[in-house]
Amino acid sequence: MFLFKNNPVLIFIPVLIFFSCTKDKAELKKEGPPSASYCDSMKTAGKVSYKCYIDSLVTVRCRKCHKPGGDGNGDFTGFNGIKAKTGLIPGKIQANPPNGDRMPQDGPPYLPDSVIAKMLSWINDGALNN
Ligand code: HEC
Repeated sequence: MFLFKNNPVLIFIPVLIFFSCTKDKAELKKEGPPSASYCDSMKTAGKVSYKCYIDSLVTVRCRKCHKPGGDGNGDFTGFNGIKAKTGLIPGKIQANPPNGDRMPQDGPPYLPDSVIAKMLSWINDGALNN
């Protein structure tokens, strides 16, 4: 605590981080596909954050079908179900998928290039629960 006493600015850093993530999630739900800048503040050691970014993206664009009893193969309601499909996701979210339809299947609009890049980056970094 003495760190905080000596340096009041430090107190605001966690508060700011908390509010920036809360705001990002609210905006993602409201606006659909996120802009590339959302959740940048939540990158963990330079990596795209699952908890702040990927989870929100999947909620907005994938979960209505990829849930128990839904049309999509795979249950994307939690981290493990998404992680299990990370080998297939890159091919499916880009043009000319190796088989079946491009995702999200209710597109167009499909994911913007900037959003695809973030999904690929998260997968290439090992699809962490970060
Ligand atoms: C409107 C419903 C719908 C939405 C929204 C949707 N999907 Fe799908 N998804 C499907 C259906 C149906 C299939 C099976 C048919 C096919 O592969 O084309 C599928 C198949 C897949 C597969 C292949 C799974 C396998 O085991 O073969 C992946 C990966 C996938 N979707 C990822 C996604 C991602 C990522 C999103 C969000 C960006 C998404 N989907 C959004 C309906 C949907």
